[in-house]
Amino acid sequence: MKKFFFMSAAAVSILLSPVAVGQKFQGLALTPPMGWNSWNTFACNVDEVLIREAADAIVASGMKDAGYQYVVIDDCWHGKRDSLGFIHPDPQRFPSGMKALADYVHSKGLKFGIYSCAGDQTCGGHPGSRGHEYQDAITYAQWGVDFLKYDWCNTDGLNSVGAYTTMSKALRAAGRPVVFSLCEWGDTKPWEWGKDVGHLWRTTGDITDCFDCEVNHGAWSSLGFLKTIGMRKGIRTAAGPDHWNDPDMMEIGKGMTQSEDRAHFSLWAIVAAPLIAGNDVRNMKKETIEILTNKEVIAVDQDSLGVQGLKYKDDEQGFEVWAKPLQVGDWAVCFLNRSEQKRKIELDWSKIVIGDDISKKTLNTNEAIFTVRDLWGKKNISDTKKKLIAEITSHDVLMVRLIKQ
Ligand code: GLA
Repeated sequence: MKKFFFMSAAAVSILLSPVAVGQKFQGLALTPPMGWNSWNTFACNVDEVLIREAADAIVASGMKDAGYQYVVIDDCWHGKRDSLGFIHPDPQRFPSGMKALADYVHSKGLKFGIYSCAGDQTCGGHPGSRGHEYQDAITYAQWGVDFLKYDWCNTDGLNSVGAYTTMSKALRAAGRPVVFSLCEWGDTKPWEWGKDVGHLWRTTGDITDCFDCEVNHGAWSSLGFLKTIGMRKGIRTAAGPDHWNDPDMMEIGKGMTQSEDRAHFSLWAIVAAPLIAGNDVRNMKKETIEILTNKEVIAVDQDSLGVQGLKYKDDEQGFEVWAKPLQVGDWAVCFLNRSEQKRKIELDWSKIVIGDDISKKTLNTNEAIFTVRDLWGKKNISDTKKKLIAEITSHDVLMVRLIKQ
């Protein structure tokens, strides 16, 4: 009863608060959020031991130092709502409670994220937030939640803009800054309306751990990372500081080859995607850690200019060139070999001019000279006065930073 009185008082003070509600918390994601999420590896097998161990591993592996911040429990942490409608975690899996778990994650210098759904039930069949948005937002604030992924299952009759705006307002009203991650899979074009509602929005359905496959689940398909990234055209202008297109959590370290993992990470960086690892960070190969913590590739993703890169060119042999303008006149360029054969490249930089209509920057090596730095080889390999001669193995990339001299 005492608890109920406290909640009611909090809710009333929120209603009377002079804070302008209806606007997301500004400035929480000036660069794409980085972290880890339980879903891609563990699905519904989540408990507090796993989350604590994941937080420990993020610190011990160097991922925290590389910038990974949010530790997000995806679906299936839920227990039941109590008689007053407040949600509680599953008491068997989270016996210490969410506040204690958030405190643990915070004690590691990391941030704590959780998952809910705009519908009556989550995609995994647990209680959703529909009709409980303000109550859930207060609960999350009390637990110490810093990041909310908000899904779109079981939402019959709901309007996406309205439903996501309601939760955004609820979070704002609860008063604790929360990064709000919209997960409606691009069905109703969140890139057109998500900017004031949340900080990132999924552009596509669920990713899976392959290069370019499609896995049919009957009513829906999950997509390999290249299909995911290739699916939505013309949405890059919607992304920018504090509002990002999200092609889904990463599949690195989950069974693809090292080349494929490297290509995946490079492309996520080029398109300024949120870098949310989805592997078992407690058991990572050295190669996986090296990919996930490559600071120079991360710097491309996190560049403060905040421009989503573009595909400059592709050809019928599966060769693609991607580019991203960076601060102080630098550019990242990623050469991708999608084919099954190795690919030789011989590139005359002076013949390439890449224009970006968002930043209004142009890469033109006839006007400035750039040092060419190989971001996976971690060395300067040339400059743009010389031809770039390289060989890229199948399903791999050459990713360079052009550093303006
Ligand atoms: C949806 C989301 C996934 C994951 C699951 C959880 O499929 O797109 O990322 O959150 O729900 O059930």
